Amino acid sequence: MANQRKYDIIVWGASGFTGRLVAEYLFEQYGVNDSLKWAMAGRNKAKLEAVRAEVADDTVPLVLADSQDMASLDAMTKSATVICTTVGPYAKYGDKLVEACINNQTHYCDLAGEVQWMRRMIDKHHDAAKANGTKIVHTCGFDSIPSDMGVYFVQQEAIKQTGKPAQKIEMRVKAMKGGMSGGTYASMSEMKAEAEKDKSIYGILADPYALNPEGERSGPDRKDLMKVVYDETSKSWIMPFVMAGINTRVVRRSNALANYPYGKDFQYDEAMLSGDGIGGRLKGLATAGVMGIVMMAKPGSLLKKGVDKMLPEPGEGPNATERKNGFYNLLFNATLADGSIARGKVTGDRDPGYGSTSKMLAESAICLAVDDIPDMGGMLTPAVAMGDALLKRLQDNAGLAFSYKS
Ligand SMILES: NC(=O)c1ccc[n+]([C@@H]2O[C@H](COP(=O)([O-])OP(=O)(O)OC[C@H]3O[C@@H](n4cnc5c(N)ncnc54)[C@H](OP(=O)(O)O)[C@@H]3O)[C@@H](O)[C@H]2O)c1
Repeated sequence: MANQRKYDIIVWGASGFTGRLVAEYLFEQYGVNDSLKWAMAGRNKAKLEAVRAEVADDTVPLVLADSQDMASLDAMTKSATVICTTVGPYAKYGDKLVEACINNQTHYCDLAGEVQWMRRMIDKHHDAAKANGTKIVHTCGFDSIPSDMGVYFVQQEAIKQTGKPAQKIEMRVKAMKGGMSGGTYASMSEMKAEAEKDKSIYGILADPYALNPEGERSGPDRKDLMKVVYDETSKSWIMPFVMAGINTRVVRRSNALANYPYGKDFQYDEAMLSGDGIGGRLKGLATAGVMGIVMMAKPGSLLKKGVDKMLPEPGEGPNATERKNGFYNLLFNATLADGSIARGKVTGDRDPGYGSTSKMLAESAICLAVDDIPDMGGMLTPAVAMGDALLKRLQDNAGLAFSYKS
């Protein structure tokens, strides 16, 4: 399959907010038809041409494909080694593309954070993708690469230095600066709307092992943090982290798919630091309160309509200055086998959701297309599909830094 196709990578959704950033990054860093053959794709030719004129030039080929038109998806997937998709909400537009990729043995990466949809895709397609060697890799953006690769890195260091993996890792968001796009907000709304129609989805979203293989959906971890508590290891108050419901599931799936290199009793959770003293506690309560309102607003309610008005529309998101001035700093407190605590850290330049995410997604696509990575197929995770090769790319090219201190 790989390497004889017309394109190494097709960026589908290149007319959208995040897709255009991916195209811009590829054009600036790799040119076109040079070391990398790639194309921009979408459903609307005029829109694609306009975006191409802004972020690249007319040497970048355009491909047309609509999420509802299987023939167009079939043709697109046959012409590329990897499809890199930012067409979301994925639960609304993603099913047929995953199917076409597996049918045509085309590797795939996306920015999905919709756990209920990923679970459906795993249940439906994992066996077929595994059997024919197609790598389908969700969550190649801020959720969940820093978490998944951060744990992968910390565990490698722990094993190197002590011979055993850490028994528990607590990821703490120390600082981050960025904004949300309309596409991301639409995906969150879609997930909520689906769950309101089918209440069993709430059960999937609450299950800490929702993305684990069938028969392996249990372990020592409990539900995500829902309140503000004091964290002794961090010496700080901690509050819920909105991405924990995705990232923790991906880390647990990585452990399971790789046959438990972190141990069957490995524990993992995520939260945000809100500071010490009464100030830290009050900040935690206020932030958690606002987040609760956004998350709980029911589709069609007055509250939801009010929140919708305050947040961006699809196609909108943080501007270039906001993206450039953004960053993140994540701590990984690892409890080692002897009870001591090691400290891992992952930092990223640019805002997490778009500036950094577009670089992570682009580098994941290149990694899947050209790097020497494990020879396996299935509904994989970034750490399992790409491991060391992705770790190197993230540090060399995408502005991430990984460190570890025992
Ligand atoms: N995990 C993360 O860290 C992370 C970060 C950022 C974004 N995301 C996710 O990425 C996705 C995209 O976000 P965004 O802000 O870039 O969204 P957006 O600006 O709304 O872009 C969506 C793209 O999908 C295309 N599209 C819509 N319907 C289509 C169809 N029927 N067939 C083909 N293409 C179609 C749009 O094409 P048109 O231009 O023709 O309308 C557009 O190119 C969302 O699901 C978001 O949650 C995740």
